Amino acid sequence: MSHPDFPTDDPAVVTCGLPYANGDLHVGHLRTYVSGDAFSRALETVGQQTAFVCGSDMHGTPIAVNADKEGVSPEEFALSYHEQYEATFPEFNVEFDNYGHTHDDTNTELTQDIVRALDEGGHVYEKEIKVAWDPEADQPLPDRYVEGTCPYCGETARGDECDEGCGRHLEPGEVEDPVSAITGNPAEYRDRTHKFFRVSDFQEYLQGFIDRLEGTANAKNQPREWIEGELQDWCITRDMDWGIDYPGEGADDLVLYVWVDAPIEYASSTKQYSERVGTEEYDWEAVWKNHGTDERPDGGEIVHIIGQDIIQHHTVFWPAMLRGADFNEPRAVMACGFVNLAGEAFSTSRNRAVWADDYLDAGFHPDLFRYQIITGSEFTADVNFSWDALQERVNNDLVGTLGNFCYRSLLFAERNYDGTPDVTVSEEVESHVESAIADVREAVNDYSVRGLGQAPVELAKFGNEYIQRHEPWNLVDDDPDRAAQVIRDCVQITKACAVLMEPVLPGKAEQLWAQLGESGSVHDAGIEAALEAPPATFDDPDELFDRIEDDQVAELNEQLEARVAEATAGDGTESEEADGDDESAVTDLEPVADDRVSFDDFQALDIRVAEILSAEPIEGADDLAKLEVDIGVETRQIVAGIKQLHDLDSLPGTRIVVVANLEKAELFGVESNGMLLAAGDQADLLTTLADAEPGTKVQ
Ligand code: MSP
Ligand code: ZN
Repeated sequence: MSHPDFPTDDPAVVTCGLPYANGDLHVGHLRTYVSGDAFSRALETVGQQTAFVCGSDMHGTPIAVNADKEGVSPEEFALSYHEQYEATFPEFNVEFDNYGHTHDDTNTELTQDIVRALDEGGHVYEKEIKVAWDPEADQPLPDRYVEGTCPYCGETARGDECDEGCGRHLEPGEVEDPVSAITGNPAEYRDRTHKFFRVSDFQEYLQGFIDRLEGTANAKNQPREWIEGELQDWCITRDMDWGIDYPGEGADDLVLYVWVDAPIEYASSTKQYSERVGTEEYDWEAVWKNHGTDERPDGGEIVHIIGQDIIQHHTVFWPAMLRGADFNEPRAVMACGFVNLAGEAFSTSRNRAVWADDYLDAGFHPDLFRYQIITGSEFTADVNFSWDALQERVNNDLVGTLGNFCYRSLLFAERNYDGTPDVTVSEEVESHVESAIADVREAVNDYSVRGLGQAPVELAKFGNEYIQRHEPWNLVDDDPDRAAQVIRDCVQITKACAVLMEPVLPGKAEQLWAQLGESGSVHDAGIEAALEAPPATFDDPDELFDRIEDDQVAELNEQLEARVAEATAGDGTESEEADGDDESAVTDLEPVADDRVSFDDFQALDIRVAEILSAEPIEGADDLAKLEVDIGVETRQIVAGIKQLHDLDSLPGTRIVVVANLEKAELFGVESNGMLLAAGDQADLLTTLADAEPGTKVQ
């Protein structure tokens, strides 16, 4: 069963993972919000009715702990960050239709309704468990209020997560030798009754759901293991004051676990939007509650955009809750890779991060960041933030290609014709614009945010070739009709660029729209506007983009390097971006294998540096790609499971590492003569630091 292509007749909602109201925003968070904003704008461009909503995640133990440290109430503490976020998003042209927070009345009521429905449906039960307790403060110690030893790896761990060791999620009561984070005293364990959500009731449902789910490959594949294995029930209450009260009898001192009310804010925020504009214009219930037919159990199109660290919450717990409360299921989950610094995760507590304010203080236009983060890599790949990469993309693609083409076209048109020459657009250019439109439609339906950024730049690249090929400046005197035709075509391409770049470069698209003499906002223009005639007259254009100069990059690099050095020189114990991130570790690292191999066995492997010559998808296979690689001594064909994880077109020229003497194998009828080495679920390709020549032995 598959979903109909966008645009559909149903309303859509695009949501982004809610930021914990617990610290400043950094460029890693912004990857989620910028991508969500671009995707929701693109849906609108192709004609899909869309709401784009989000809100601040106000609850959870870390917020309560940090508020305590600052001597303010958790509400006051979280609200101040909430207000800060509301002000920051527009500075990156991230424009939510509604931005609420999890502690507001709408979310409190809807959360309690949903939990009541789960309870009434028989999906919640009570169980006595052991929770850590501070005898002196006479209070329970949920999650981060307690520290101790990880029962799995023996490292120091927090009550909810082995943050310095194996990364496991720890259930209440698991941490050993618990110490209170409030008083520092050894904690005791006491028996407490908690509420559990029986996720296992939904096992069969979830198996069907994950088959229907669209979005990125990581979001569909990662949860399979959990859904197909034994599903653990989920403790949905905490002994705390800060949070949403558990509704109903006998649970007066319990609040809901933060991960219960957080995703419900997606629906609450949509509801607030609906209430503001009126249900005639946008009906939140048609999205969240109005079930479709048997073939299509989803009524509206719910698309979640998140980072890859919270896939489990969005593909297991959340759809089970929605189902249990008789709400619609998500159509798609798009999970982006992480933004790192020099190969390591940000550490917000050690200031080893690039903050939203760093970018804004550097004075760059927000669209430059948007373009770089969206097109700089595959959406699902981890990336290292670097000012050099920003400079490279901006100077090559935006200044050199897009800006250059639009400026020279409009300037020539204005100087010679006061605007658009009065002829019809040529068939060649019309069909080229049509295929660029098709690329954007395809990117939307493939959930390819990167494709959205590439389409207008590719079109401008064609425009530059076109203008170069026809040299209109040589035609004006000798063949004025021909010159008028070429310039007419170029103005059309420019207009199409404005329409197609709006999702990723909304501010710059608006500027270009105005330069074209168009009235209104390009944001309201549908994709077909790319083919409509531009205004007959317009004024002198301005350059859309400025080059980023080397000295500015050098200065920014220096500041960043100093910051990283300082963070590394710090105590070095806190290894991860963990400050806001309550119990979200899903990276169960396996312990190192006990079995040792001999050096001889290792030497039997012939591992070589290779260069990818070509990479193409294998038809019919979900994940496989066929590569031709140069291993120095010969060319080899290798099959690798990287189709979904890498942009195959960008691979030729990449140096990788392959096992050259592995037995041959046949996959999907294609011979594989060797194996490439890659790290982790995302198949991060191994390469060499100094780019060793193909054929070099790895030893
Ligand atoms: N509050 C939870 C999400 C609840 S959704 C119902 C949370 N908050 S967060 O502040 O830690 O992260 C907010 C969003 O930013 C999430 O989508 C998260 O995956 C994403 N990212 C956080 N750090 C990131 C990077 N370094 N890189 C890319 N995305 C990052 O999780
Ligand atoms: Zn551990």
